[in-house]
Amino acid sequence: ARPIVLDCDPGHDDAVALLLAVSSPAIDLLAVTTCFGNCAVTDATRNALRVLTLAGATDVPVAEGAAGPLAGDLALGNYVHGASGLDGPDLPEPGFELVGESAVELLSRVLREHPEPVTVVVTGPMTNVGALLRDQPELTDKIAEVIFMGGGTHGGNHTPTAEFNTYADPEALDIVLSAGVPVRMIGLNLTHQALATPEVVERMAAMQHVIGQTCAAWMGFFGSSYKKVWEFDAPPVHDPCTIAALIDPDVIEWREAFLAVELDGTWTRGTTIADLYGRYPDRTPNAQIAITLDAQRYWDLVLAAVDTLGTP
Ligand code: BDR
Ligand code: CA
Repeated sequence: ARPIVLDCDPGHDDAVALLLAVSSPAIDLLAVTTCFGNCAVTDATRNALRVLTLAGATDVPVAEGAAGPLAGDLALGNYVHGASGLDGPDLPEPGFELVGESAVELLSRVLREHPEPVTVVVTGPMTNVGALLRDQPELTDKIAEVIFMGGGTHGGNHTPTAEFNTYADPEALDIVLSAGVPVRMIGLNLTHQALATPEVVERMAAMQHVIGQTCAAWMGFFGSSYKKVWEFDAPPVHDPCTIAALIDPDVIEWREAFLAVELDGTWTRGTTIADLYGRYPDRTPNAQIAITLDAQRYWDLVLAAVDTLGTP
């Protein structure tokens, strides 16, 4: 199984990513770290503990991370995910406690102690991993890759050009992109192919267990936000695309390119620049960019994992 840490801000789609990571035998979930983003970090932490409790994964070490970005103003996504960051169905109270370390300390320890390089999956702002690589660059070689949900090749959501996660901490992403670590970006151009259509939600609701029912209810809340804010007919379930790509390499097609993030634009701060057509020939490609999702394969994988987890 591939050893990973999941750095997240749950969040409805982060929550599904957590369930997928716990359920899959192809993934060895070494730790979960939290970040501000969809909600305040304290809420993201509480949500992570509750989702892991729901999944029966109370032995996963969890640590709380950054309350705000390395630079710039705090941005939060409660306008999408609700007051708690994970509004909708009732969840169990946390059945276990945080480890006594910060997110950066836990990440650092896991990377140092694990015998092989670890994959770092990021489904929120890049703050924790940016701080880690800024302060402990010697850990670069201990990271197999950073695979993150954020950015996009054409357009944003939090602003017209910037996706939320990259908008929330562009300086942190810039550190990661300059660190010389392998990077894969799963942006909005990819995740807008991962729509929880009525048929998908129906398949969740048809499962005879609380985890399937909970996922269906999450999609209901998330879907109503996407309808209200962006006029989508079905919500894009962004974050599990990262885990799915690790489980099944055929779910996503990639293209190598130079990738940068705008730090200074008047209107475009946090926008990712993916040079898919080599328009900056003096720039060396530094990332793999997700281009095409096999949506059928994706949903079959996610739904099977949810059903396995929920079935006693
Ligand atoms: C990203 O922001 C959050 O709303 C989601 O959890 C996802 O990580 C999408 O822009
Ligand atoms: Ca997220």
